Amino acid sequence: MSFTTADYTVTLRGKPILKGLDIQAQPGRTLALLGANGAGKSTFMKGLCGLVPAQGSATLNGTQLLGTPQSTRAQLIGYVAQDMGHLDVRLSVYELLLLAQRGSARSWTTGQAPQRKATHMLELLGLERFAQCQPGQLSGGERQMIGLALALVRSPQLLLLDEPTSALDLANQLQILDAVSTYTRENNIVTLAIFHDMNLASRYADDTLMLHQGQVHCSGTTRATLTAHNLAHVYGVDCRALEVDAGAFTAIYPVSVLKDGAASAPAPARQAATGRTATHASVPNRSPIT
Ligand SMILES: Nc1ncnc2c1ncn2[C@@H]1O[C@H](COP(=O)(O)OP(=O)(O)O)[C@@H](O)[C@H]1O
Ligand SMILES: [Mg+2]
Repeated sequence: MSFTTADYTVTLRGKPILKGLDIQAQPGRTLALLGANGAGKSTFMKGLCGLVPAQGSATLNGTQLLGTPQSTRAQLIGYVAQDMGHLDVRLSVYELLLLAQRGSARSWTTGQAPQRKATHMLELLGLERFAQCQPGQLSGGERQMIGLALALVRSPQLLLLDEPTSALDLANQLQILDAVSTYTRENNIVTLAIFHDMNLASRYADDTLMLHQGQVHCSGTTRATLTAHNLAHVYGVDCRALEVDAGAFTAIYPVSVLKDGAASAPAPARQAATGRTATHASVPNRSPIT
């Protein structure tokens, strides 16, 4: 029971975007997909949904996703795109949650089970106040949260989140990501989430995979992977990893852009037992923030 890709490749207009990715993600865990702008993160998710053509293999609990009709994939995958601006229809959020459960059918169901599920999803994400609103009347961040509710209400086995908190304030970032990681664990689904905020990846992702120019640079537990060395290589930025609250969290602080980008990535000076406090070779370790 897992998500696996083998030689997963996407070529767009003759340009290789993803070059033979071999990836594994486990159920009940959240995998952060990190990488610089243009690394291919969104393309990876679009290929799984059938929005761009992909070659190779991508299986979910043994079912091959590539080449499978989109309607079948839609039953397995919940996808929240980077921009939910398209979610501007003359239906209430509650009606959309009922409609989403009907899949490809023409009308929404009014049975009690779907109604309970719609209500439950709004409660789970703390969105009850938006039930009777139309998405077009909501802010970008509010629409982003509704997009997540619409993805989850269909009980996906694979949840794909493209920068799920990019438009959310601090409180909503924590509330939504708490809900997602709890849902992932309790329902034993596979969640892949693209983050630009390293601190959120550090806090919420069990595992992390860094893409660099369409290839896997590194992957493993977030604890082992989110190091200054890997961040320097992938983003060309000199970062510090700082322990917060006596090691309960690791904060990532970007210090400066490295002159030669990835080429000058410093070797990790110190790899603590936890693997989380690698720092720049020439800079003394900072005290943890307390
Ligand atoms: N439809 C397309 N046609 C051609 N190139 C594309 C298309 N969509 C994305 N790309 C290119 O693919 C690369 C990866 O894009 P994307 O997956 O959106 O990156 P990101 O990691 O920032 O999400 C970029 O160089 C982008 O220009
Ligand atoms: Mg993207």
